[in-house]
Amino acid sequence: MHSYSLLASAKINLYLEIIGARPDGYHNLIMVLQSIDLADQIDLRPSGTEAIYLHCNHPEVPQDESNLAYKAAALIAEKFPDAFAKYGGVNITIDKRIPVGAGLAGGSTNAAAVLVGLNLMWNLKLSQRQLQYLGSLLGSDVPFCIVGGTMLATGRGEYLTPLPAVDNFYVVLGKYRSLSVSTAWAYQTFRHKYLQANVSDDFAPENHKQRAYSEKMVYAIARNQERQIGQLLYNDLERVVLPQYPQVQRLKEEFQDLGCAGMMSGSGPTVFALTKSQQEAQQVLESVKIVIPDPDLDLWVAKFTSSSIRVASSVK
Ligand code: C5P
Repeated sequence: MHSYSLLASAKINLYLEIIGARPDGYHNLIMVLQSIDLADQIDLRPSGTEAIYLHCNHPEVPQDESNLAYKAAALIAEKFPDAFAKYGGVNITIDKRIPVGAGLAGGSTNAAAVLVGLNLMWNLKLSQRQLQYLGSLLGSDVPFCIVGGTMLATGRGEYLTPLPAVDNFYVVLGKYRSLSVSTAWAYQTFRHKYLQANVSDDFAPENHKQRAYSEKMVYAIARNQERQIGQLLYNDLERVVLPQYPQVQRLKEEFQDLGCAGMMSGSGPTVFALTKSQQEAQQVLESVKIVIPDPDLDLWVAKFTSSSIRVASSVK
């Protein structure tokens, strides 16, 4: 049996609009999701026993059954007991490069890599659609992380429509190491503040009065209108996260003062800014370091990418 080494990309939200609260506690959304080449490495090796083991080099990442990557392996084992009996357990090793609790889908992309990797390792021959279905049982962003690229995501985030690739952007990301935001907290706070009276099971975006610009964003992406894409960045969750975390608000403003379109990704607290070249991205990063000389602030440069999970190597 082969061992696999996979690269699992982070994502940013170019657009996140909350359409309504659902009775199941989730929210119907319209999002535009984009993979970036900031990636974790996931190694899968046969464990030689019947158990699933998980190791991660990041101290804040749980190494037990609560880790989404572990849950992904347990789900495959449960759904395909014959393959599990035939091939046995697996050792999962995560080399964490994507910041944790950051709004960049780090946990979801690790789970997606385990689904894709075990499909290969156990010769399950599942289609992308089947893997996405299994992913939707694990978390709202997992189906996207299986395919990646540039996607319109609706429903809970699991209904995906591919958009033309916009891979000509670089992105500067900033995150305070000591800050992490609970996604559940961000959505529940938004619900209590803005949606309380309006819980509905139907998801029909055309029936809702949209405050924002999803159609314009999709149009700008389809026409590769770079300036408009920058102008149309949008995230409803900023309305609850930014007032709670003034440092994040300031970071966004510093990006904007440098002339970049800046926006929070997902439930934050990562803020990103788009640039047209790596050199410009590096200049923005250096300028932010000067205006916010806080050792707690981590900054990265990454590039848009059209792929999400990639097999880096496999050995027998
Ligand atoms: O699906 P996932 O487990 O990644 O979601 C984490 C949390 O984010 C959920 O428990 C829920 O509180 C919130 N969420 C939401 N609506 C969505 C996606 C996530 O309320 N569409």
